[in-house]
Amino acid sequence: MSRVISVSNHKGGVGKTTVVANLGFALARHFKVLLIDIDPQANLSSGLGFADCKENLSKYFKEKIHFRNSKIVPSVINQYVHIIPANVDLIKLEILLRETPRAEHVLNEMLYPLKSIYDLILLDCPPSFNLLTLNALYSSNLILIPAKPEIFSINGIGLIKKFAIENNIPFKIIFNQVNVRSVLHQKIITEAEVNFNGNLVGHNVRNTLALAEAFEHARDIFHYNNSSQGAEDFTNLAEELLPFV
Ligand SMILES: Nc1ncnc2c1ncn2[C@@H]1O[C@H](COP(=O)(O)OP(=O)(O)O)[C@@H](O)[C@H]1O
Ligand SMILES: [Mg+2]
Repeated sequence: MSRVISVSNHKGGVGKTTVVANLGFALARHFKVLLIDIDPQANLSSGLGFADCKENLSKYFKEKIHFRNSKIVPSVINQYVHIIPANVDLIKLEILLRETPRAEHVLNEMLYPLKSIYDLILLDCPPSFNLLTLNALYSSNLILIPAKPEIFSINGIGLIKKFAIENNIPFKIIFNQVNVRSVLHQKIITEAEVNFNGNLVGHNVRNTLALAEAFEHARDIFHYNNSSQGAEDFTNLAEELLPFV
């Protein structure tokens, strides 16, 4: 049975999509991984070369809601990494979900047949705390919360953290776009180590241009620049998280 990991923070631009793609590829050295794009902005899909696919998450959601069943066919990136891409239709889907009974549990049921195929399922959440996000969170065995070492970004952690604690789901906070020479970043991280005791990962992700460039080339960091510090950071992060996934 696979483990399901949501990467979530209701703030945008904190690195959710970057973490899903690159942590996914790093963990694919050990596991068969399925990436699912749950964000109507579909950055994970376009960032890995799967924009506007006919087989997408909205289609599967609609089939599940209307016919109670859905034949999901993930797209193949390589032997170890598959993806269910998204598109802008997820905005309409969110509206449809509002009229659906047990709306926050539809994805969990959809994932059930996939759990015997994949070791790990990683969910890229939208930058809001809506029904799509709730579907992801209620499906999860672990929640990863990326944040920038900035005060507003840290304030954004609270909502997801509260959900995780109330629902007894383990969670880990990952600082992303860290500037190791910034005194402010170091101060914020040191304070967070105390405040989030045990829930903050030891391996942060540094600010690395190659991580942004990789998506421009529809690649993960390992296939774009395997010797970059971005590749190093995601390798270390994956190793650290191995006992929890
Ligand atoms: N560690 C990093 N170093 C440099 N650029 C980054 C890093 N993490 C994310 N980015 C860039 O910042 C932007 C927002 O990241 P993204 O993963 O899309 O955030 P989110 O999914 O939370 O909105 C993207 O352009 C991405 O390429
Ligand atoms: Mg995103």
